[in-house]
Amino acid sequence: CGIVGYIGTREKKSLLLDGLKELEYRGYDSAGIALLTQGKISAYKATGKLENLALKTDCVTSEGFGIGIGHTRWATHGKPTEINAHPHWGQHAFVVHNGIIENYREIKDALQKEGIHFLSQTDTEVIVHLFESNITKHADLFSAFEATVEALHGAYAILLITTLAPETIFYAKNAVPLILAKNPKGELFFGSSDAPLIGLATEAVYLEDGEYGALSPKEITLFKNRQARPLQFVSLPQDKAYAQKEGYRFFMEKEIYEQARVISETLMGRISADSIVLDELSPELLEGINTIKICACGTSYHSGLVASYLFERLAKVRANVEIASEFRYKEPLLTPDTLFVVISQSGETADTLEALKIAKAAGLKTLAICNVDNSSIVRLADATLLTRAGIEKGVASTKAFATQVATLWMVALHIGALKGTIDQQTLASEIHTLLRTPNALHVKDGLHEKIHRLSKRYLHGHGFFFIGRDIFYPLALEGALKLKEISYMHAEGYPAGEMKHGPIALADSGLFTIALMPQTLLYEKTKSNVEELSARDATILAISPKPFDLADDFIQTGDHAHPMSEFFEMMLITQLLALEVAVRLGNDVDMPRNLAKSVTVE
Ligand code: G6P
Repeated sequence: CGIVGYIGTREKKSLLLDGLKELEYRGYDSAGIALLTQGKISAYKATGKLENLALKTDCVTSEGFGIGIGHTRWATHGKPTEINAHPHWGQHAFVVHNGIIENYREIKDALQKEGIHFLSQTDTEVIVHLFESNITKHADLFSAFEATVEALHGAYAILLITTLAPETIFYAKNAVPLILAKNPKGELFFGSSDAPLIGLATEAVYLEDGEYGALSPKEITLFKNRQARPLQFVSLPQDKAYAQKEGYRFFMEKEIYEQARVISETLMGRISADSIVLDELSPELLEGINTIKICACGTSYHSGLVASYLFERLAKVRANVEIASEFRYKEPLLTPDTLFVVISQSGETADTLEALKIAKAAGLKTLAICNVDNSSIVRLADATLLTRAGIEKGVASTKAFATQVATLWMVALHIGALKGTIDQQTLASEIHTLLRTPNALHVKDGLHEKIHRLSKRYLHGHGFFFIGRDIFYPLALEGALKLKEISYMHAEGYPAGEMKHGPIALADSGLFTIALMPQTLLYEKTKSNVEELSARDATILAISPKPFDLADDFIQTGDHAHPMSEFFEMMLITQLLALEVAVRLGNDVDMPRNLAKSVTVE
């Protein structure tokens, strides 16, 4: 979910809707706003994307001094209906919330015993009723809010307003992001990320877990555990890099095409003639490290899997990868010789953030590979390598994945060079390939058109298997995930050599096999596996530099001499394939159903 808040004299409805537009990638099941001017509150909600709320509030204007709060929802408790959309309200107070209140059942039961009636099935609604109930038990509104926050267990970013305090927003933050901001004109803002604030506010406070307070033109207060804390404002960048589609049909398409350029940004300043320069990886960070543990979710998990091959092969460091939501609850054995690496595009994924906290609490050294500076994960990790992909808007991640893999490849080379596991000649050749990565990511003439034409065969099968070996196995997983996310068709990534141990039972002409067959890594082995599938009538799309007679469709890749160049070119092809299949099926490529770009709940 995403939330925004505003206090000032601007037209508030448009400002809130513009802010929410920037956050829509965080969820788009429903949206809502509440406006408080001249002592009166009005609230509007709509299901589905933000444009529905914009249509519904077409005639609404909110001029003059006042307050506004807004929310775009990714449903956790309760279906994405209008009643469950935020804001939620009681007698006089209205609230928007991102996160999950874990003990909402108990609070709700207690409040219902007091005779309070609930409208929605959400966990959020308890906040507003508890606050109103607390007012009768506390000396002032702030104490009532403080007691409310103290009763909540779980993750939350909360903005609460009431007609009893028509100039104030009460706020609280725990385990999900919330930023408070201001400008010299005296306007005040809240946002779940800085994207809606840039261009409006000049200074911001990135709130920390457990902080809460009240914001009004007269005063900004900030507390934690009932102790007042200083406000640490930092300046916000002013150039609003509005990501426009620049002639592409979808942000995802634009982002696929951008990869050749952004990967150069990722490499910039990090490669000298004969070495990798990663100043962020200080000697203290790497000292005594014998093992690397990687934790991430979704696409970032797949780049972690690629890295585990590279770390062991190039740097000769034991490396394993875990899905963050699994790692959190498995009571992991952590030893101090482990470097804990988290990978996250957004830097806000709740499971990854919590995994990082566990590692830190265990005293491990931590490194974040992240695309968003100042995000929660970046602020927590001991060291960060920014992937520099730029804002990624398409929910299905593309350029973030490419830049993560490139960054992790550099880390493997850097550690290998430090440990002496890579000789100078190998390092020089790896660097040579690294510097040519942008070429592999360039969409060659005719490629997209070819994928568009052949995609029509792949609309109505009973499933897809993407298969590959070594680093092409995580690429197969990622190819399948891309297709699933935006086409809604069943797709699996599988190690090519493992197909014979079960999945081959599914093979028939309705089973589409996307075979990743690089020439530089285990070509003959993969080829035999593809032949086994072809012999059982599976429909084969082979992606390879070498022509393959048994393929029903064939996309020829370049004559590369290094597996990583083959990797990036094949990655590009699988991304374009997913895009073209989804477009033919008429799906919303940038905002696929049920997904969110940044998942700040567990
Ligand atoms: C969500 C997104 C995925 C992403 C995953 C991890 O599920 O839809 O595309 O891979 O979160 O996100 P992160 O920002 O941590 O990389």
